[in-house]
Order: sequence, then structure tokens, then C-alpha cells
Amino acid sequence: MAIQNSDRPALLGGPAAVTLDQREANRWPLLTAEDEQAALAVMRDGNISTHPVIRELERDYAAFTGEPYALAHSNGTAALIAAFFALDLQPGEEVIVPSATFWASVLPMLWFGLVPVFCESEPERMGLDPQDIEQKITERTRAIVVVHLWGLPSKMTEILAIAHKHKLRIIEDASHAHGATWRGKPCGALGDIGVFSLQGDKLAPAGEGGVFLCHDYEYYERAILLGDITRILALETPARRFAATSFGIKTRMAPISAAIARSQLKQLPKRNRRRNENIVHLSQRLEALNFHTFLPPVHIERVYFEFIIRHEPEGIPLPMPVLIRALQAEGCLVAAPRYPLLHQQPFFTEGHVLQSLRLPPGLQPPAYQPDALPRTEAANGMLIRLPAFPNAEMSLLDEYAAAFEKVLKHAQEILASPQAAEAAEAGMTG
Ligand SMILES: Cc1ncc(COP(=O)(O)O)c(C=O)c1O
Repeated sequence: MAIQNSDRPALLGGPAAVTLDQREANRWPLLTAEDEQAALAVMRDGNISTHPVIRELERDYAAFTGEPYALAHSNGTAALIAAFFALDLQPGEEVIVPSATFWASVLPMLWFGLVPVFCESEPERMGLDPQDIEQKITERTRAIVVVHLWGLPSKMTEILAIAHKHKLRIIEDASHAHGATWRGKPCGALGDIGVFSLQGDKLAPAGEGGVFLCHDYEYYERAILLGDITRILALETPARRFAATSFGIKTRMAPISAAIARSQLKQLPKRNRRRNENIVHLSQRLEALNFHTFLPPVHIERVYFEFIIRHEPEGIPLPMPVLIRALQAEGCLVAAPRYPLLHQQPFFTEGHVLQSLRLPPGLQPPAYQPDALPRTEAANGMLIRLPAFPNAEMSLLDEYAAAFEKVLKHAQEILASPQAAEAAEAGMTG
């Protein structure tokens, strides 16, 4: 039977299912007159380096997470450098980390001679796999880096239990998870040290910025010593003796960024709600088509730094490159997620990491093998990134759902087409 024209997949010459404008729907960050006023107030004040707005931002983050100590940083990477420094570990000690994350969750530890040990991610929430954490623990393991990938809290019940059992510290990289909660507790306050990036794409952006959070004063003081000379001067402990040097870097945040960050944090709940309403609506329709959309279990409130879904090969009769090409033809802004797995990157596989690590004599450097995490690799290869729809109307979400429905309804016909063969050959994932 001939397909009705409007029902014809766009890959085969039919009309695209997505017709609405997507630029405004996906515009981010959303900067308003309020942000402008906040930045302008700092400029008019003239103190564009140490303005008290930095302290005010720290108080905001302390209140937001319930952590007593917050220290603003020039970016999330700097806050992570401070986190590894704060733990005061010995060169050669090991930290268990995910491979599926941005490099800054991992590489800063090398400055302190700490050895990253990559661990599988679990498929339900894409966070560290608790079973594999146990496998990777050695007598030199001291800490775990947890990343709530794309805004979905990791399996903290199990991870906290393992950390407690083996006396491991947890650095929680909550850079994707502003506003997410686990059992009613905010992400960023679930481990020993929490870190947020406030980079421009993030859910509460500052342009550039980062926040370090903890409840242990000693970690806070070490983070101050590393790179915040203004605060070292304000210390009333013997650590103040380092006021003339710090520990060698400078991590202070720029006040104009802090002002924007405060203004953006106020908007966070409302803006998270909008993303969630939009994405949950589309997720429910995609679940009906056998996609796994990472809707959270009841004890978790997730947020959507990005909207990632998983192609479940048993239920979906199109290979990934063909599916993505067909959806793109329908006007969907879909692609493969942007983080390549860290353990497969030349920095690790070519041994550069070993040059960075000055391991004590007698310690064997780790061998980083690209095939070391087969489950993470398999799951990562089936992910599809959609827009996060921060500013979208439901009608756009309905068009996306219609595009997916159309492509799957005509999967066999698409599969038999020369366009599919071409897409499969190119291995095109966007
Ligand atoms: C998970 C994660 N951690 C850390 C960072 C580093 O933050 P920044 O870019 O602010 O240095 C980022 C992102 O940019 C990130 O996505």
C-alpha cells in the first residue's frame, strides 16, 4: 500500500515532522534584565575583583545545599582541583572514577600524583556501577568521584554504603545536577566534598565559575590555602601564615560572574520545572516506543542538564546511525552524546598520564586499556542526545514525539532504502 504523503518519512522524501522554530525553544542560557542589573551593579561599584557578591554567592550555595562551607571558584575545574587537594592524599593513592564524564571530573587529581582507576557505569542511571566499584578497590584506594551524569543522581544508597565500609571519601561532581535531590537531600551535599560548575551551558550559569562545598572545616581550609588569597588573609587559624604565598594557584571567582550566578540561581527552580515538564512529557511518549528515557525512581528528583535517551536494540528495529539519520531528516536535533569515554582517550592510552604521575618508587603505573570497560562502552554507544527544551512549548515536544513515531512505524521501509545503507555505512551519529 502506498504511504500517504504526510506520513512518509522525511528520509524517503516525505515532509519533516518537526516544523516549529527550535532556536528560541532551545535558547540557553536565558539572560534577562535582572542578570544585566546584577552585573551592572558590580561594575558601577568599581570593585570588579573582590566585591562581596562572591561571599553572597557562597552563602546562597551553602543555603541551597545545606552545607556549612562554600567556596566560589573561577570555574568548576578549579573547584575540582581544590577538591583533590583538600583530601590531602599521598602520591600513588587511588581514586575510583567514571569514564563517562567530562575530563575535569578526573584529570585534576594528577597534579597531586593521585591515580585514576576507571570503573564501569551502570545502565540504569549512567553513574558508577556499585558492583564494579567493589571490584576496583585495592589497599591504595582512598576516594571515589561520583558524577550525576546529565542531572540524574547516581546510585548513592549503594555508593555511600561502600564508601562507609571501606573508609573512602566521596567527591561529588554535581556540575550537571543543580537542583536534583536524592532522598530529599540536594546533590552537591551527598559526599564529603561537592562541586558545581557554573559554566555557561549549565543549569545555573555564571559564564565561568565553580563552587566547592563541604561540611568538614579542614577541607574548606585546604581549598582556601590552595588558591584564595583573600580568604587566607581572613583566616584566624595558624594557616594564615600562608597568606603571602598560597599553595601556588589562584582560583578566585570574578565578581561579575558571581553576580550573574546569584541571579541565575534564583531562577533555577522555575527553569528546572519547565525543562522537566517538557522532557517528562516527551519521555513518556518515547518509553511507549521502547526507548529508555532515564525517568527517575521515586526517591529521586532529577534535573535535565541534557536530555539523553537510550536506544534499546531489542525493541527498536533500526541501527543507531540509521535511526539518527532518519530523525535528523524529520527535523529533530538529535546526535550522539558528546563525551567520548575518558579511558579510551590518547592521554590515557598513550601513557601521558604516567608522565604526569610522579609515582613513588616501586609502584606499578596502571595500564589504561581501551577495552577495559565493555559494559560502559556498549551502553554509551546506544545513547541519543536530544535538545533539553529549556524554553519550548509542548507543541514542539509533540512534533518530536510524532517524528519518532513516524520513523519507527516505517522502520522496515527505511531499513530497505539506499539512504539507510548510506547512513549505516557512514556510521553517522551526528
Ligand atoms: C561533569 C563536569 N565536571 C566538571 C566540569 C568542569 O567545569 P568548568 O567547565 O566550569 O571548569 C564540567 C563542565 O564543564 C562538567 O560537565
